[in-house]
Amino acid sequence: MITLKSSRELEKMAESGAVLAGVHKKLRNIIKPGLDTWDIEEFANKYITDHDAYPSEKGFEGYKYATCVSVNDEVAHGIPRKGLILKNGDIVKVDMTVNKDGFESDSCWSYAVGEVSDEVKHLMHVTHHALYFGIDQAVVGNRIGDIGAAIQHYVEDENGMGDVRELIGHGIQPTMHEAPNVPNYGEAGQGLRLREGMTITIEPMVNVGTWQIKDRYDKKDDWTYYVSADGSLSCQYEHTLAITKNGPRLLTSQDPEFDKKYLFDI
Ligand code: MF3
Ligand code: CO
Ligand code: CO
Repeated sequence: MITLKSSRELEKMAESGAVLAGVHKKLRNIIKPGLDTWDIEEFANKYITDHDAYPSEKGFEGYKYATCVSVNDEVAHGIPRKGLILKNGDIVKVDMTVNKDGFESDSCWSYAVGEVSDEVKHLMHVTHHALYFGIDQAVVGNRIGDIGAAIQHYVEDENGMGDVRELIGHGIQPTMHEAPNVPNYGEAGQGLRLREGMTITIEPMVNVGTWQIKDRYDKKDDWTYYVSADGSLSCQYEHTLAITKNGPRLLTSQDPEFDKKYLFDI
C-alpha cells in the first residue's frame, strides 16, 4: 500500500535520515586501508543507538547486522566481517537503515579506500550522477518509469556501464520496504504517477561490466548477497526522499551545500 505522508511525518523521517547521514559523514574519515569491515559495523551500531535510534536492518528477514558492507565486486547485501580488511584501491559500499521514533530512513554510500584507480573514480562519478538524475525526475505528475529511464539512459547509453536490474528502490515508511517498486531502469512515461507525500528510495547500482548479478550464499549467517556476474567492480548510492509540491526533498542528505536545491522547508 502507498501511504502519503504529512509534513509532520516528513519532519520525523528527516530526523531519522539525519542520524543516518551522520554515520556516513563520519565514515568518510574512518574508512581507509587496513580498516576491518567489522569496525564499520561497530561504529554505525554505536552511533545510531547513541542517537536514540535503531539500526533497522538488524533483525530484518533474519539479517544480523546494522550495516550491509559490500566490497569491490559485491553489489549489495554484503556482510561486515571481523578479519575482512579493506585494502588500498578498494571500493566499499555501506548501506544502512535507521528507525528513529518509528520513522525509517535508508541510505547507501560508496567509499574509495585510499588511492583508487581512475576506473573506480569514474564508476563512482557515474553512479553518483545516476542517483541525482533519478532524483530530478521524482516530481509530482511524473511517473515511476521516468526515474528509471533517466538512470538507465545515463548509465548504459551515455557511459556503457552495467545498470543492475534485479535490485531496486522502493517506497519507505511505515516499514523499510513499501510499495511502490522504484526500478533503476524503465520507460519514460510508464508506471505509477508520483504524488505529493510519497516517500521513496532511489538506489542505482552500477557495474563496470555487465548489469547481471549472481547470488552468493553465506552459510555462517544463512544469508544471500549479490556479486556482479563477471566479477567487475560495482558501486551504489542511495537516498531516501519525499515527493513534494516543491520538488524532491532529500531526507538523507549529508551535504547541505551540494544538495541545497533538495533541502527546502518541509
Ligand atoms: N538497505 C537495503 C535497501 O536499500 C536493504 C538491506 S536488506 C537487509 O533496501 F536485510 F540487509 F537489511
Ligand atoms: Co539501503
Ligand atoms: Co533501499
